[in-house]
Amino acid sequence: MVDKLRFDDEVVIVTGAGSGLGRAYALELAARGAKLVVNDLGGSTDGKGSDASAASRVVAEIEAGGGEAVASFDSVATPAGGKAIVDAAIDKWGRLDALISNAGILRDRSYAKLDLDEARSVVDVHFWGGGFYVAQPAFAAMKESGRGGRILLTTSASGLLGNFGQASYGAAKMGLVGLMRTLRIEGEKAGIKVNALAPIAGTRLTGAPVDDDAPKGPGKVAPIAVALAHAQCPTNGEIYMAGAGWYSRVMIGVTEGWVSPDATAETILANWDKVSDASTYSEPRSAGDISTIMRSITG
Ligand code: NAI
Repeated sequence: MVDKLRFDDEVVIVTGAGSGLGRAYALELAARGAKLVVNDLGGSTDGKGSDASAASRVVAEIEAGGGEAVASFDSVATPAGGKAIVDAAIDKWGRLDALISNAGILRDRSYAKLDLDEARSVVDVHFWGGGFYVAQPAFAAMKESGRGGRILLTTSASGLLGNFGQASYGAAKMGLVGLMRTLRIEGEKAGIKVNALAPIAGTRLTGAPVDDDAPKGPGKVAPIAVALAHAQCPTNGEIYMAGAGWYSRVMIGVTEGWVSPDATAETILANWDKVSDASTYSEPRSAGDISTIMRSITG
């Protein structure tokens, strides 16, 4: 059994915490004693406009429950906004223990009809915003503190596996996985653990918002986000998927493959089944592991 996970005296930033999944994460963390920076720009699902009431409402909910929170209305999609979000934690409480980088928008369009400005705005929020403008100053603050910390990046099944009309969104979401794998290595010594979560829940972003505690509600994802944000969680550099009470890990595997020092395009195609066969595979944890695997297979 694991004792109740508490966050007393810890400071956590949740971006995009004004609605949906981020709100559910923030409320659950606050109920467990965390002090929260509730960040939300408060725009529409396609990223237009802004409304300070989104973050303020969640701060009021937390305070009504006896918790402590500050609102941040900055956009994650600019370097200054990202820094301001991290500064809000440091200025108010002098520390940062965890970041859940969750803010997001959607501007779906098929690839052939892609509008580059639209695509860029999606990448700006999810990839540059979530992965760099907020996460980089957060990572630096955690490193400087000497206490380490937890960063949870938000990926998506659309990025991990693909989805029609979501080229920019999917690319940004999978890009975060690449970032996470490097931060796992760079943060390890400093005690910073970075993971990625692909949530599945009915929210305004999916066009079917439901209550937190509905069978497919954000409340069914919040427990794993909370676990991954807690100092007791030993995991670093992994991808999880969660929705409707289902919690699982997503892997990147390498098949044992087929070895032929004299291969040609033709012989490779003739042995395509062996190259692709996933009945035996390994799960490398870094680019360095590939050399070890290659040596063990090719001799
Ligand atoms: P949501 O629309 O309810 O919440 C996203 C929040 O982010 C909104 O409150 C919005 O105002 C805020 N936001 C958007 N742009 C921002 C910016 N530039 N700066 C600060 N805040 C900003 O949507 P939901 O579903 O809760 O999404 C949360 C995250 O989960 C997103 O990253 C999304 O891509 C991801 N996700 C959600 C899935 C789902 O099934 N709901 C599936 C896969 C991924």
